[in-house]
Amino acid sequence: MYFNLTEEQLAVQAAAREFAQKELKPGVIERDSKMQYPTEQVRMMGELGFMGMMVSPEYGGGGMDTMSYVLAMEELSKVDSSCSVIVSVNNSLVCWGIEEFGTEAQKLKYLPKLATGEWIGSFCLSEPEAGSDATSQRTTAEDMGDYYLLNGTKNWITNGGTSKVHLVIAQTNAEAGHRGINAFIVETDWDGVVVGAKEDKLGIRSSDTHTIMYNDVKVPKENRIGDDGFGFKFAMKTLSGGRIGIAAQALGIAGGAYELAVDYSKQREAFGKPISKHQAIAFKLADMATEIEAAKLMVYRSAWLKDQHANYDSASAMAKLFASEVAMRHTVEAVQIHGGYGFVKEYHVERLMRDAKITQIYEGTSEVQRIVISRNVLKGQLYIPILAGEELVGV
Ligand code: CAA
Repeated sequence: MYFNLTEEQLAVQAAAREFAQKELKPGVIERDSKMQYPTEQVRMMGELGFMGMMVSPEYGGGGMDTMSYVLAMEELSKVDSSCSVIVSVNNSLVCWGIEEFGTEAQKLKYLPKLATGEWIGSFCLSEPEAGSDATSQRTTAEDMGDYYLLNGTKNWITNGGTSKVHLVIAQTNAEAGHRGINAFIVETDWDGVVVGAKEDKLGIRSSDTHTIMYNDVKVPKENRIGDDGFGFKFAMKTLSGGRIGIAAQALGIAGGAYELAVDYSKQREAFGKPISKHQAIAFKLADMATEIEAAKLMVYRSAWLKDQHANYDSASAMAKLFASEVAMRHTVEAVQIHGGYGFVKEYHVERLMRDAKITQIYEGTSEVQRIVISRNVLKGQLYIPILAGEELVGV
């Protein structure tokens, strides 16, 4: 079994780490506190190639593998998860969804701008009454011949205030259930697209999360993704990869809190010695280190499976489930290790703790991940595939 990263992957990891420490860290507390969208930072991430990492170079992207994307997500998330969720939604939901399932015309029209960060994308699935139960779409797209007429409301839309392109999931035939759902590419300057107020959130506060209303929006027929009725499967397949990005975000949040906790525990003295020398703290660090390593293996393996074009539905669900729980548990511990300092904004760990919570909720709650995993187990996928010689083997 090999655990080596390529030169290119190591270079991406180093570049993301340097960017996060140099460009994201200085203003992160202020942006969080003022709910200020990181406009300049997103522009820089576009220039550095972080907005379309996996998009083929022919459509203006970096042509990188999922592993490189995960390494970048991890480093960005150690510092600023508001920025990393913008990267994640744009890369693994919007760009990947269009490149994997879109027509050549859709790819040529949308990917070059999305991959460079000139345009930002949103993934519009959740509704006031359709969160985990994603088949219960109330947003409708009525077939009018040349176009679809889109009506409805989407909730908690990441990049909602800034995105130029929405991938909207809507019901086109209610009687057909999930087979009557379609996905559409919608441009936000079309008539009838209304951006609601920005949400005031617990965490990832400088990312912009909005309610979006579609009022009689005319969507050209050529903007439907895939065959008629493919929309629900499109959402599921896209989210399966998206969950690798959010798992990497959770891993980064846990890692960021852990690095801060280790540093602080070596500096802070109590009862005549650094607190790291007290077993009560040293054992917390040991548990953090152990669980973060376990999460890392799961996240990297799910990225590797995707790069092998193997089935990664369970692997990504497990990685997100575990990494997000590790992030929550160990950011709480990092605050505890910092004591009173951990409770104030200046020391960063309270923000990481607040940011960790969303990784257990978006792109499928922990409960949804357990549904995905248990259904695959009961279908017979007892273990995640591994490489035996040249062959991927399952159970
Ligand atoms: N790939 C391909 N097809 C899939 C699939 C996958 N990964 N998962 C399900 N399907 C197919 C099923 O095979 C089935 O098709 P058939 O009937 O033809 O066999 C169809 O989809 C319906 O599947 P289910 O019966 O499993 O559907 P369900 O109603 O039981 O729901 C669920 C399953 C897993 C709970 C799903 O609704 C779900 O994932 N919910 C969570 C939604 C979610 O993650 N939302 C996140 C919002 S986006 C976001 O957060 C972005 C952001 O801004 C950060």
